[in-house]
Amino acid sequence: MTATKGLEGIVAATSSISSIVDGVLTYRGIDIDDLAEHASFEEVAYLLWFGKLPSAAELQKLQQDLDTYAPIPQHLIEQIKLYPKDANTMAALRSAVSALALYDEEADDMSREANEKKAIKLQAQLPTIIAALSRIRQGKEPVAPKKGLTIAENFLYMLRDELPDETSIKALDQALVLHADHELNASTFAGRVTVATLSDIYSGVTSALGALKGPLHGGANEAVMKMLEEIGTVDQVESYIQQKLDNREKIMGFGHRVYKNGDPRAKHLQQMSRELGEMKENMNLYNMSIKIDEMITNQKGLRPNVDFYSASVYTQLGIERELFTPIFAISRVSGWTAHILEQWVDNRIIRPRAEYVGLSDQKYIPMELR
Ligand code: COA
Repeated sequence: MTATKGLEGIVAATSSISSIVDGVLTYRGIDIDDLAEHASFEEVAYLLWFGKLPSAAELQKLQQDLDTYAPIPQHLIEQIKLYPKDANTMAALRSAVSALALYDEEADDMSREANEKKAIKLQAQLPTIIAALSRIRQGKEPVAPKKGLTIAENFLYMLRDELPDETSIKALDQALVLHADHELNASTFAGRVTVATLSDIYSGVTSALGALKGPLHGGANEAVMKMLEEIGTVDQVESYIQQKLDNREKIMGFGHRVYKNGDPRAKHLQQMSRELGEMKENMNLYNMSIKIDEMITNQKGLRPNVDFYSASVYTQLGIERELFTPIFAISRVSGWTAHILEQWVDNRIIRPRAEYVGLSDQKYIPMELR
């Protein structure tokens, strides 16, 4: 038995949800470029869950379900108020999502119907939880979700207690489309491993959130913004990045396990970052990002991934850095739950082996001899 570090190149599941072939990402066979240009996030979530684009009536029904499920239990709001104000937002989100199961009588109902309903519920409730976390941390009361708004619109509304402008809604909606699913990424795999034991969907999503939090995965977008804040201005980019490279440090937002010639999602976020900068007549974040991109591409041959330009996009939308990875979760919960539902269709426990490299032929040593 020989282990492959990081399971690189190992095909660990069959899936018909999303694929990456020759650097092209598709959801249910539709190119992400096509979806980014034409689809709403709600259409994409439906596509991931049910394998086809929704009809107008199906989309309307989904919107109604999202409206119905978006409010979160008052008990949970009270619980969130007791979380330390400086707690890591992903840790708080992971705790709150885990707690959601306590208030759902159907949490352990393993019928397909109940699980599809819970997938939609989780999709509806994550934005409400994250907006509540943000406001409570700032000493404000949470804002209840408003019926009839899209997920992007409602999230921004709940954050700010005012209806957002069209540009912000469009940018966030497109970012959600781009983050929705990504084959067997680390958090999706974590979710599938958890539910393959026939544990419940809330446990699966909680596992996935834990995996997403790390800076090598979803946490990279926050790390990118931290770096941009530290750099400050374009003229500081060169010395800052060069020092990191000389120290052989990783530059967050670059590189990818699967994409070696560039992440197809990055160009959309780059364009969005530029457009938002132009609109706000402040190109500092965009110009810094471009300069970093050029340096890393030239010196390391690494291309930006989905997290690199999303950092400047979210900041230009007026969203605080601590919410970047949670926003990734608002989108990816659609993919996680689609994969969880798929896992159960033809389930087998996921239980690989380890290559043992430890000591052998050892004997128990009595305490007094150690
Ligand atoms: N900055 C500098 N060097 C990097 C790098 C980065 N962001 N990403 C990879 N490399 C280098 C590694 O140091 C390694 O070099 P070496 O062979 O000289 O040791 C080589 O490129 C291969 O990288 P590796 O870490 O083995 O790739 P991986 O497939 O295991 O990891 C990532 C993929 C995404 C985790 C990795 O590229 C990374 O850590 N990127 C930064 C975090 C990030 O943006 N994550 C979000 C992913 S969407």
